[in-house]
Order: sequence, then C-alpha cells, then structure tokens
Amino acid sequence: MRLLVLGTGVMARNQVANFLAIDGVEVVGAVDTDRTRLDEFADHFNIEKRFSTLDEAIAWGDFDAATNVTPDRIHHPTSLALIAAGKHVFCEKPLAENYGHALEMTEAAEAAGVINMVNLTYRNVAPLQRAREMVLAGELGTIKHVEASYLQSWLVSRAWGDWRTESRWLWRLSTGHGSNGVLGDVGIHILDFAAYGAATDIDHVFARLKTFNKAPGGQIGEYMLDANDSFTMSVDFANGALGVIHASRWATGHLNELKLRIYGEKGSLEVIHRPDGSDLRGCFGDDIENAVWRGIDVPPVLTNYQRFAEAVRTGKQDDPNFRHAANLQKVIDLAIVSEKERRELNLLASDRPPAQEQENKTDDQGPTLALVV
Ligand SMILES: NC(=O)c1ccc[n+]([C@@H]2O[C@H](COP(=O)([O-])OP(=O)(O)OC[C@H]3O[C@@H](n4cnc5c(N)ncnc54)[C@H](O)[C@@H]3O)[C@@H](O)[C@H]2O)c1
Repeated sequence: MRLLVLGTGVMARNQVANFLAIDGVEVVGAVDTDRTRLDEFADHFNIEKRFSTLDEAIAWGDFDAATNVTPDRIHHPTSLALIAAGKHVFCEKPLAENYGHALEMTEAAEAAGVINMVNLTYRNVAPLQRAREMVLAGELGTIKHVEASYLQSWLVSRAWGDWRTESRWLWRLSTGHGSNGVLGDVGIHILDFAAYGAATDIDHVFARLKTFNKAPGGQIGEYMLDANDSFTMSVDFANGALGVIHASRWATGHLNELKLRIYGEKGSLEVIHRPDGSDLRGCFGDDIENAVWRGIDVPPVLTNYQRFAEAVRTGKQDDPNFRHAANLQKVIDLAIVSEKERRELNLLASDRPPAQEQENKTDDQGPTLALVV
C-alpha cells in the first residue's frame, strides 16, 4: 500500500510509526498546511514528497490510500476530496464534528466503493476483543449493567504539554475551532469501548456536560475555552442493559485510563487499559458467591493499522468503518441536545433530529434522533 499522510502533528507520528512496521506499507507522501511541521515530520520519517495542500497531493496522485490525521473539523472536506479521487481512507476519530457530516462521508465512501475505516484506537486493546467474544458466547448470561469511564488529567498535569500555551491543546478546548470537547474527543472512544465490549448498541441517552472556567474571561488569545471538560451519561443499551459512561480531562492522577465493567447474570468482566498496559479480569461460577475476581489470559490482536493495510490489499472492508463511527457521532450529537434540554433522548425514534443535523438529514439510513416524549 502506498500511503499518503494528511496532517503531520502529534498523532501522525504515532500512526506512521505503526504503519511503517507493517510489511508492504510505504509512506510515500505527506501533507500539512504548516510547512515547518511538514518538513520536520518528513525529514524524521524520510518522506520525499511534501505538499502544502491536499489538492496538490491529489493532482500528483501516486498513492493508493490516505490516513487523515488532521484536526476534527478538517476530516470532512478532506476525506470527501480523497474519496472523490478514488483513494481508500483511514480517518482519525471522531469521523466528523457532527452526524450530518459523518453520514455524508459514509455515503460518499460506500458509493465510491473505497475502503473506509476510523481509528478507534482502543479496538487494539486485546482484553476488549476477548471481553466481546465472551459476551457474544453467552458466558456472562444476560447483561444487566455496564460501567465505562475514560479518565485523563491534562487540564491538571503537564505530562503531555501545557494547554495554556500550546495551540495543539487549545483547539481541543474551543467549539469555534471545531472541538466538541471531551465528549467529541474521547467520548467516541469510550462509547465504542462500552458498546463494542458489551456487544450491543446504545439506544437512549441522557447526558450532562460541564465546562469549567480555566482562564480570565474563559478565553486565551483567539481561543474561547467553551468546549466541555467532563461529561456523565446514562444510557440504555439495545440488549436491555442500563449503563453509565463518563469521561473527564480533570481526572487528577489518571494520565489516560479506560475502564469497562460488564455485569451479567452468570458472570462479570472488567477491562482496564492504561499507558503501561491492559488487563482483563472476571468473576464467574462459584467465585460469584465470594466476589473473587481472577485475571484472564488474552491472545494478541491485530491493530487497526494492520487491518486497514490488509483491507486495502484484499479489497475487503473491515471494522470499524465510517458507518459505525457515524452512528456513534449520533449518540454524541444527542448527548449535546440532551444537556441543553435536560431530557432523555431516543436514538431509535425519528421525529426530531438535533439542530446541527437538520441541513444534512436523510431519512433512509437507520435510526434517526428524537426526543423521548
Ligand atoms: N485515535 C487516537 O487515539 C487519537 C489520539 C490523538 C489524536 N487523535 C485525532 O487525530 C487528529 C489529529 O490530532 P493531533 O493531536 O495530531 O493534532 P495536531 O494539531 O497535533 O495535528 C494536526 C495537523 O494537521 C495539520 N492540518 C490542519 N489543517 C490541515 C489541512 N487542511 N491539510 C493538511 N494538514 C492540516 C496541522 O497543521 C497539524 O500539523 C484529531 O482528529 C484527533 O482527534 C486520535
């Protein structure tokens, strides 16, 4: 696969290091509107072809696929341009900044017949994959309750850099710069972690979002710091289970931790993922009487990067695809509406999409959004 990298910031370094470790993958070109960043990146990875705009790269055209590692709101126009050029697209999460755009990207990719995948990174966590297999095999029995959290502390600690002075963090705090806050940023990860691990979909949501004051006037330079920092969500799953899902950038003491607990009538599972590794534990059988939890061995799994390269090689679409990410975006959009209206919302009803979706609404692609009345 001849791969173009679009956007050469923090995540692109991680991605390209992963892609270059795969046999048969070459990174043949890089694009960034910031020439200094582009040159540093391309020098580091020894990439010869460098472009300041995607249009120039498409006019050159000598690549099969692109990985889109631009800021969230740039994903939509750039992915559409790549799809129109017949290129396979691996897009960073969230797929778009709203459901309407995410759906448009999905439909364009499906109509063009190109491979489309979204980098929901925590699919690479082997214990999550094993947990899902155990749920699907019926080992937990009927699932009654699910808890999931995504905890970060970068508004407190400087371990990843200083948000007060660095644009790469400031855009994530500002709706005017295309961010939906912690909900849009890592909310999609934890929604996927919970629903994929519990092997079910979310069908009702009630959310609370909170933005804490972080600077005088709530502003630093051009950045209004108005995007949410913490959210809590109660959800109903399609399998009948009740769930609580929450995330924060103020979780002092947690650099980056995802946790999922799935409680069933026959047993329970806990998946924990931290920067230093991940674990799966379970409580089953006689252990239920004494609440004894034991570690469960888990085989390694392929990464999203490996599965995208294989999908491009074979022409066979793999997960997580654009449509799945668009459906998660719908939950995020509804969560924002439910905070504004302080009401539970139903993903399965069809009479009332959220405001930002109205202009792009289509009525033929699965559940639409609506208030529960
Ligand atoms: N999957 C994950 O776990 C994970 C982790 C971190 C970030 N991300 C996602 O990756 C994306 C990028 O995040 P980041 O942390 O690398 O941001 P970043 O700001 O460090 O990098 C983005 C880069 O894109 C460039 N850019 C902006 N507009 C462009 C355009 N029109 N054409 C070409 N380049 C353009 C910027 O100049 C910058 O160099 C975001 O969508 C983010 O949500 C995903």
